[in-house]
Amino acid sequence: MRRHLMAGNWKLYNVTAEECEREAKGIAEAAKDAVCEVVLCPPFPFLSIVKKAIEGTNVKLGAQGVFWEERGGFTSQVSPLSLKDLGCEYVIIGHSETRGRFGVGSVKEELLFYFSESDETVNLKVLSALKAGLKPIICVGETISERKAGKQDEIVSYQVERALANVGDIEGIVIAYEPVWAIGTGEFCDPDEANRIIRLIRNKVRELFGDKAEEMRILYGGSVDPGNIKSFMEKEEIDGALVGRASAKAESFG
Ligand code: 13P
Repeated sequence: MRRHLMAGNWKLYNVTAEECEREAKGIAEAAKDAVCEVVLCPPFPFLSIVKKAIEGTNVKLGAQGVFWEERGGFTSQVSPLSLKDLGCEYVIIGHSETRGRFGVGSVKEELLFYFSESDETVNLKVLSALKAGLKPIICVGETISERKAGKQDEIVSYQVERALANVGDIEGIVIAYEPVWAIGTGEFCDPDEANRIIRLIRNKVRELFGDKAEEMRILYGGSVDPGNIKSFMEKEEIDGALVGRASAKAESFG
């Protein structure tokens, strides 16, 4: 039986120590009787503050990204060893926003390559997170043009296969299906379609890792909010959600 997981990707929604502490405490309070696992992924500078705010509660800590090297001359990057040391259990890898594939946004198209994480770097990060004892939450999903071209199944399968290359044991790994066009747009994926893609992801993982695929949690992400969460959680294949905007405030995430 897979335990549901509700992961909050705070992105850049809570950006001061005061906001992070307040919302983390509020969410921990709201989650005190939660049957699902709850994880918060604040911006890097506030990992310690959130860690302290959730101490002794059933909320866990995650990071929004990681570099694949542990140490060296890599200005601005964050080592998996640092995340482990700060008390992170999870780390988001391959989010469309770090792959340079934005659903909406004010960043100019021609600047997006600065974010361009590739399938290869996603895989390196997955391997290094696992080595450090972190649980990767691997994001996959198609853009609107890929969906319009009917390529979503192919794209998602390919991203899953590449992200998991050279992985020996998938225990602890979580995958999140996040169609790029549904992120931050308010235009969420039809729950039946999300369920279908998640089944396809599980079939791909089964092809690669056999029955272990049954234990892997696969989440949906993209404009999840208090009004639509139930329709996703009712679906057989959906094991939880990776929530962006609605996870930043205790009022909505709670
Ligand atoms: P929104 O819930 O804001 O659409 O973001 C989803 C997401 O990208 C979570 O990682």
